[in-house]
Amino acid sequence: AISSCRACCRTPRLSHTRNMLRVRCLRGGSRGAEAAHLIGAMIGRAVSQWAKKAFQSTSSAAAVHPRAVEPIVTEPVSEDCPVCSYNEWDPLEEVIVGRAENAHVPPFTVEVKANTYEKYWPFYQQYGGQTFPKDHLTKAITEIEEMCNILRHEGVIVRRPEPIDWSAEYKTPDFTSTGMYAAMPRDILLVVGNEIIEAPMAWRARFFEYRAYRPLIKEYFSKGAKWTTAPKPTMSDQLYDQDYPIHSVEDRHKLAAEGKFVTTEYEPCFDAADFIRAGRDLFVQRSQVTNFMGIEWMRRHLAPTYKVHIISFKDPNPMHIDATFNIIGPGLVLSNPDRPCRQIQMFKKAGWRVVQPPTPLIPDDHPLWMSSKWLSMNVLMLDEKRVMVDANETTIQKMFENLGIKTIKVNIRHANSLGGGFHCWTTDVRRRGSLQSYFQ
Ligand code: ALA
Repeated sequence: AISSCRACCRTPRLSHTRNMLRVRCLRGGSRGAEAAHLIGAMIGRAVSQWAKKAFQSTSSAAAVHPRAVEPIVTEPVSEDCPVCSYNEWDPLEEVIVGRAENAHVPPFTVEVKANTYEKYWPFYQQYGGQTFPKDHLTKAITEIEEMCNILRHEGVIVRRPEPIDWSAEYKTPDFTSTGMYAAMPRDILLVVGNEIIEAPMAWRARFFEYRAYRPLIKEYFSKGAKWTTAPKPTMSDQLYDQDYPIHSVEDRHKLAAEGKFVTTEYEPCFDAADFIRAGRDLFVQRSQVTNFMGIEWMRRHLAPTYKVHIISFKDPNPMHIDATFNIIGPGLVLSNPDRPCRQIQMFKKAGWRVVQPPTPLIPDDHPLWMSSKWLSMNVLMLDEKRVMVDANETTIQKMFENLGIKTIKVNIRHANSLGGGFHCWTTDVRRRGSLQSYFQ
């Protein structure tokens, strides 16, 4: 049978019975022009010139060594790849849900300081390298078990990362740290089509987080998924502005407005959660954990099938896009009213509906060690018409109901304290759907 390659370029794919022969897709061609256009528009002239140079050298290298169709290789490719997801809302079939077990407070390094709120700095100073409060974790574990149970009742296959001892100290040639958790698969894994991409991350405490997911990823790989690990940063001192002048909330606003981040451009870094997918278009923000070099790596990696657009927000603490700009349907986005999107007209012009969710209801005295209250909009779509939403957030529930979306209410308030809502706590591995354009 001849089918077309749905994950990349629609090149005919030859498939036979079990041991299929696959003609790899020939990529390249128009990347240079597209790169110059996107980068130029988004991150300014200087970076644009740098990118143009990079692409010129890429194209001239290609001219000297034209990439022919690679030899036909034998690969155990399954027709039904277990990994396949193009957006945030197609019907969910399989999902990875994180674990609170043994979660540890990261050591209080400069990048952790820049990403957490002043109120909790004494907590990090005191408990860095130790477990999060045990009774709180026990409650979070129970909540997440129940969330998994509800997902199963909704017909979704639930997979979990390995329990790992995050207290073990590790030393690389560049730094020493202890680990954190495998609570937020969204931060580290990005599924684009049938490819699962491990993000490099930017916190030293998260350097080895991928280990919790490797048994699952190896299984997906053996069943036909593409598996990519983005270049691992050294996370040496040069990756961070060691003197990042953050002392107060005013500093935070000022630095964010000036576009100054704790991560430098020393080497690529990104968290997967700074990307959000809408078919052929992915949107990303430069944040405290995602630098332009990391974005550029992803842009080249995904071109020409996918376009990566850089967008930005008036946000004093950019880290992970999904409590700021959460795309929940074809041309439907939740846009955080406290963090206006500077490019919102671009979406409106494309005919998108931009919805501002109501103010979160979570009380001030509930510990949120790693996030803002806006986890209320960090929802997981089970399909276009079903959303997993916090059981306590009655106002946003009402908003969804008015949008004609059924709410599946789950209480994960203690799990929220570790820094994530339903979207952060999950990575959708498979959604039933096809690659489409929603942004023209
Ligand atoms: N970093 C995101 C927020 O706090 C989850 O809004």
